[in-house]
Amino acid sequence: MLREINTHSPEETIAFGRTLSELLSPPKLVLLRGDLGAGKTTLVKGIAAAFEAASEDDVTSPTFTLIHEYRGARANLFHIDLYRIDTPRELDTLALDDLRSENSILLIEWGEKFPRLIRERDVEIAMEREGESVRRIRVSA
Ligand SMILES: Nc1ncnc2c1ncn2[C@@H]1O[C@H](COP(=O)(O)OP(=O)(O)O)[C@@H](O)[C@H]1O
Ligand SMILES: [Mg+2]
Repeated sequence: MLREINTHSPEETIAFGRTLSELLSPPKLVLLRGDLGAGKTTLVKGIAAAFEAASEDDVTSPTFTLIHEYRGARANLFHIDLYRIDTPRELDTLALDDLRSENSILLIEWGEKFPRLIRERDVEIAMEREGESVRRIRVSA
């Protein structure tokens, strides 16, 4: 376990995300695990802010668009939501490999549905709802 924390508000989760920039220096493939509402997208707000790639408010869920790109000086962030992707063939059509480069960070929600992404991940961030506003966050490599 690299980092572990309980947060008690969305703001605290965003603040924690802001502390992860060194750990997530590119290139990285990051799996964000956790149920709907666990706080995965909220955490990305902090990560994107840390890389000065987007303001917190500009980060929204890519549920329908599947991929959001945020360009920062030190990294290109790709926030990806595979909730609606069901087969490896559909995954292939997203061509995630084309997004990978020396300065890219892929932050993937629901990536654990695909064994290939589990194998290729550099970092995993697992989030669990422990109460109305409490989230347990564990970062491992
Ligand atoms: N400690 C917390 N950390 C993150 N989100 C929280 C927290 N407490 C409550 N929430 C709420 O939980 C929801 C998390 O939503 P979201 O980040 O979109 O989750 P996910 O992307 O995992 O589905 C938001 O409505 C947020 O306000
Ligand atoms: Mg989400």
